[in-house]
Amino acid sequence: MWYFVAPKVVFGQDALSHLAELKGRSAFIVTDKNIVSLGFVDKVREQLSQAGIQTAVFDEIESDPSLQTVQKGVAVMNQYGPDLVVAVGGGSVMDAAKAMRVQYERPDIKPEEINPFISDLGLGAKCKLVCVTTTSGTGAEATFAIILTDTADQRKLSLINREVVPDIAIVDPELARVMPPQITADTGMDALTHAVEGYTCAWKNDFADGLCIKAIQIVFKYLSRAVKNGNDMEARERMHNAGCIGGIGFINALSSMAHAAGHSLGALFHVPHGRAVGMFLPYTIEYIGEAREELWAEIAYAIKLEVPEGKRAATVLAQAIRGLAREINQPLSIEQMGISLDSFNKAMEKLVDNVMSDGSLIVSARIPSVAESEKFFNYTYEGKSIDF
Ligand SMILES: [Fe+2]
Repeated sequence: MWYFVAPKVVFGQDALSHLAELKGRSAFIVTDKNIVSLGFVDKVREQLSQAGIQTAVFDEIESDPSLQTVQKGVAVMNQYGPDLVVAVGGGSVMDAAKAMRVQYERPDIKPEEINPFISDLGLGAKCKLVCVTTTSGTGAEATFAIILTDTADQRKLSLINREVVPDIAIVDPELARVMPPQITADTGMDALTHAVEGYTCAWKNDFADGLCIKAIQIVFKYLSRAVKNGNDMEARERMHNAGCIGGIGFINALSSMAHAAGHSLGALFHVPHGRAVGMFLPYTIEYIGEAREELWAEIAYAIKLEVPEGKRAATVLAQAIRGLAREINQPLSIEQMGISLDSFNKAMEKLVDNVMSDGSLIVSARIPSVAESEKFFNYTYEGKSIDF
């Protein structure tokens, strides 16, 4: 028995106006200061006021949100007592909002205790969650995963429970228009990594496969256009869709080794999530290699890559991903991220520790030993293709 879970998705131009059709008394808007200064929160409040819904704003979400920030937000939310939570922002904002909503509805469960085995969170009785995404790729508007940072322990927490999925995802490309090229590139690589990992991990399934393949095709066709010209609204809209489609695809299968490695590096060196997982993706494809050769070939076929006689599809696909990354100025190695060899070596033990204990690694089609993990990180530092 398995489940396929997704929010109601409202997408395309003017999707934001769906907020004016919501029913409710008061909405707690979770966001960050940058989103406020872009005027998006005003737009959201305008729509909600048309529906007769009062609003309060909590704009203190930082990137890589911490447990402490979530707790602070919940304290404010408890005083306000909303029946709607509206997250407006990227992955960090939406993940923090998901965690805050759980604690608001279930004060007996701490955010760090959320796990797949809690069978009845009973969410929705006290409030509904609406996620308005301003970036194209995290898929957080449609997933039931929450990534928080435990600052005390320098560790990222991947918290998963099906009930955490937002009730409504709003995917309006107009909100992605002002995204700077770097964030477009980072989050776009996140979308690609979700889709490739969802399609090839151990828990892949028929329901998720089509979504993952579609997201991969869109990213390969439109990501570099969206990075190079933010006003290319066709590319913006398709990438905004791809982020959400890839999110629904991967969360109903799971992400795997590139995410495990990316979480590990990100927690220690504060590399943006999408940039980290996207950099690791081709290396993990090479590492997993034969265990998924048929699936790499299927992906290659879907994006019209030619696999020459005698060459492995894993190699061809990994190189194509590096080609795309190069086109949009993404780093191809840990060294290119500006991390010194000295600090990398000092962090190695923790890097390996983190990756081996990351939940995403369990579903990788090939799981490294501790020694292989260390070797893997050394290769990715130098930018050397995996050959073991
Ligand atoms: Fe991701």
